[in-house]
Amino acid sequence: MSFENEVRLVLPAKSVNEGYARVAVAALAAQADPTAATLADVKTAVSEAVTNAIVHAYRGVEGGRVYIKMKLDGEGLMTISVRDTGCGIADVKQALEPCFTTAAAEERSGMGFSIMAAFMDSLKVRSAPGRGTTVTMKKRLLRE
Ligand SMILES: Nc1ncnc2c1ncn2[C@@H]1O[C@H](COP(=O)(O)OP(=O)(O)OP(=O)(O)O)[C@@H](O)[C@H]1O
Ligand SMILES: [Mg+2]
Repeated sequence: MSFENEVRLVLPAKSVNEGYARVAVAALAAQADPTAATLADVKTAVSEAVTNAIVHAYRGVEGGRVYIKMKLDGEGLMTISVRDTGCGIADVKQALEPCFTTAAAEERSGMGFSIMAAFMDSLKVRSAPGRGTTVTMKKRLLRE
């Protein structure tokens, strides 16, 4: 059986849609019959990426959108990209460091990217100041 499938979502950058993204990614991932732990990891990583787009990318901007592309290949490898067209990140290397945050005043801990890296098999961040950010993550969903 082939798991090949692909879903694209365009969501307004509102905090209610963090939950929507979690459920949507879980619905697609479930088609590859992952363990409950793997499914939980993917949901957590996606919600961190979507939350970043909502709270950081469109700070002070109305009407922003979050673009999510999720793809399952024939071998049960899931690729998820979360893209925004917001403020971008000036120094990606610094942003990826554990505990680095530009929102300490809002009690953010700077652990979002570390969580994504730990819970997924790979994490790639591409960003350009003023243009936006794309976070691409991969995870093997098939049981051993
Ligand atoms: N989509 C984005 N657009 C603009 N800046 C971003 C985006 N995602 C992350 N950042 C920047 O990278 C920093 C680190 O992100 P990370 O998710 O690791 O931590 P955080 O969001 O600050 O805190 P936490 O995720 O623990 O609540 C953020 O503080 C922010 O400056
Ligand atoms: Mg974060």
